[in-house]
Amino acid sequence: MSKLIRAAGWITGYCAAPLTFVLVSAFFLAGCGMVQRSTPIEVWDDMKRQEKFGPQQPSTLFADGRASRRPVEGTVARGAMRDESSLYTGRISPTMYVGQNPVEITKETLRLGRTKFNVYCAPCHSEDGTGKGIVPTRFTAWQVTSLHEDRLRTTSDGDIFNVITHGRRTMPSYRTQIEPRDRWAIIAYVRALQRSTGATTADVPESLRAGLK
Ligand code: HEC
Repeated sequence: MSKLIRAAGWITGYCAAPLTFVLVSAFFLAGCGMVQRSTPIEVWDDMKRQEKFGPQQPSTLFADGRASRRPVEGTVARGAMRDESSLYTGRISPTMYVGQNPVEITKETLRLGRTKFNVYCAPCHSEDGTGKGIVPTRFTAWQVTSLHEDRLRTTSDGDIFNVITHGRRTMPSYRTQIEPRDRWAIIAYVRALQRSTGATTADVPESLRAGLK
């Protein structure tokens, strides 16, 4: 018995502090990653509760008592400029599409176009543009056009801009997802795709023709 008491004394004497530390840590750690239905205890306010104005809320800061403000008249937010040029409309007049891409075609433009095409268009049109993407395999009634049709090879860039912006028949509009400049980059890439499949030896620079198989 006295042995037991001595052992207990030893434990409390030497191990009390580390043991308390381990127990307290376990207590706090147990809270992490646990699934529970009740609202978690917030020792400090979560960031989702901050002082801010939500939509339609009143404010005493402004004379009219509204927190939501109108943009200052006659100003345009940075990056939000949309004039009537063909860059934003895809047209040179209300009834005429612009023939050629108004964005300069560089390697960067094509790279951007490829990235955006693979994100936004490939799910339906497939990465090679033939129209055999993943979506039409699930919805077989949804007939996706091949971008290699002669009609689409010869159509104007503004026409394709119009398709992306407003959609056409069963194709939805991508106006809100894709910035105008990105739409033009996609069109440049679609042209590259079209050219890559309909190419002849004449399209290959003379210095590289010897390497063709
Ligand atoms: C959700 C599926 C889907 C996505 C995503 C999609 N398309 Fe389409 N697209 C279609 C369908 C379906 C058609 C055929 C429309 C019809 O004729 O009813 C079509 C037709 C077209 C046509 C031919 C229009 C014509 O004149 O007949 C073009 C050009 C085109 N798409 C370009 C694009 C580009 C560029 C993107 C990416 C920004 C894109 N599409 C994204 C489904 C899609």
